[in-house]
Amino acid sequence: MTQSHSAAQTPLVSRKASGLRGRIRVPGDKSMSHRALMFGAIAIGETTITGLLEAEDVINTAKAMTALGAPAYRDDQGTWHVQGVGVAGLRSPAEPLDFGNSGTGVRLAMGLMATTPLTARCIGDASLSKRPMGRVTVPLAQFGTTFEASEGNRLPLTLHGAKNPVPVTYTLPVASAQVKSAVLLAGLNTPGITTVIEPTPTRDHTERMLKGFGARITVEQKADGRHIRLEGQHELTAQAIDVPGDPSSAAFPMVAALITPDSDIVIENIMLNPTRTGLIDTLIEMGGDIAIENRRLAGGEEVGDLHVKSSRLHGIRVPAERAPSMIDEYPVLSVAASFADGTTRMEGLEELRVKESDRLAAVEAGLQANGVPTQSGRDWLEVQGGGAPGGGRVVTHMDHRIAMSFLVMGLASRIYTTVDDSRFIATSFPDFTGLLNGMGARIAAPEAR
Ligand code: S3P
Repeated sequence: MTQSHSAAQTPLVSRKASGLRGRIRVPGDKSMSHRALMFGAIAIGETTITGLLEAEDVINTAKAMTALGAPAYRDDQGTWHVQGVGVAGLRSPAEPLDFGNSGTGVRLAMGLMATTPLTARCIGDASLSKRPMGRVTVPLAQFGTTFEASEGNRLPLTLHGAKNPVPVTYTLPVASAQVKSAVLLAGLNTPGITTVIEPTPTRDHTERMLKGFGARITVEQKADGRHIRLEGQHELTAQAIDVPGDPSSAAFPMVAALITPDSDIVIENIMLNPTRTGLIDTLIEMGGDIAIENRRLAGGEEVGDLHVKSSRLHGIRVPAERAPSMIDEYPVLSVAASFADGTTRMEGLEELRVKESDRLAAVEAGLQANGVPTQSGRDWLEVQGGGAPGGGRVVTHMDHRIAMSFLVMGLASRIYTTVDDSRFIATSFPDFTGLLNGMGARIAAPEAR
């Protein structure tokens, strides 16, 4: 995506629908897709990946691995191949690495590169260039990595990997799987034991997948949190990885079916790792008719099919402790809340301020533009239910999840909703509109109404 995004904005309109039907699949999990490419790049041998999310964020990671000397490419059957170079094998890229819109891509890659003596310039789009990178440069500097960052510890930045890295013990000051992962990845090419202490649990795909690649990693629950210990400078072994469907993408058709009358859908093959299922728990608590069918284990993760029917929801208080397990789902939960009876209060939302946009502000503005009363503070949001009148134009701020959430809102609001720019949906869910329209939604360009 270009930095001057206003020139070619692509608005979309979403109109009232009823009776969403179908058995659908959503694209592969984004967190697992980034990790499969990156761990494959530093394993010994060829890693194969099926079900990889083929969206801009992940494609940028594949390009970055290729530029670092570990070719990642797709074959004619849609399987991805990564030629791994070993834990110490990455080399300086000839050109800057462009991570586009992706915080996960750039922060995990910084960890991956931090303890190999290479130099890499990291760039991103206007949204990513506003986001804080100090949360990873500060712990990575303890390994001996140096950075030349833009003002406020932001992109563009140049990373110089440590020649003689020293192991680090780091207690996470924010509940962030990206920071945890960056530190652990830096530990892979560091002699001795790197330890991350995680007071609040966050998604654990890095720990699980690294174990699958043969890393010497242990996790122990202690009084002050989870202690994750990694013994560095052992080679990883290439794997065959099958990526299940992304629960954060499933969230959109799931809420669409709950709020659109007379709907009954099945979303197949969704990853149900307990560090990712906070939204499902919350919607069930709100009265959502969601059944998990066909639960099974696949590639070290629990997966299942989500059977979702239209439901009368009621407002609840969503506790702060639940935030890490549904951190990307608050925009679409807020849309569900606007159709519930009563008020929904969400707490512990401070991290929403530093996502692809300030999501707390963007959600609140979008709700108010569509006639939904709200109240908010620094880290909380209250949404008054009763139905969204609609009619508003939502500013998406280069944020895919804001765009998709308010297109879901339009399906059940009295007047259609408009989002100002749908292009960033391509960062995580390229066929979002086609998939929803295939179930009976009416999402289209304004002129085609
Ligand atoms: C991610 C972690 C989360 C999440 C992001 C993906 C990951 O960010 O918002 O979309 O794959 O590790 P934080 O860990 O910074 O909260």
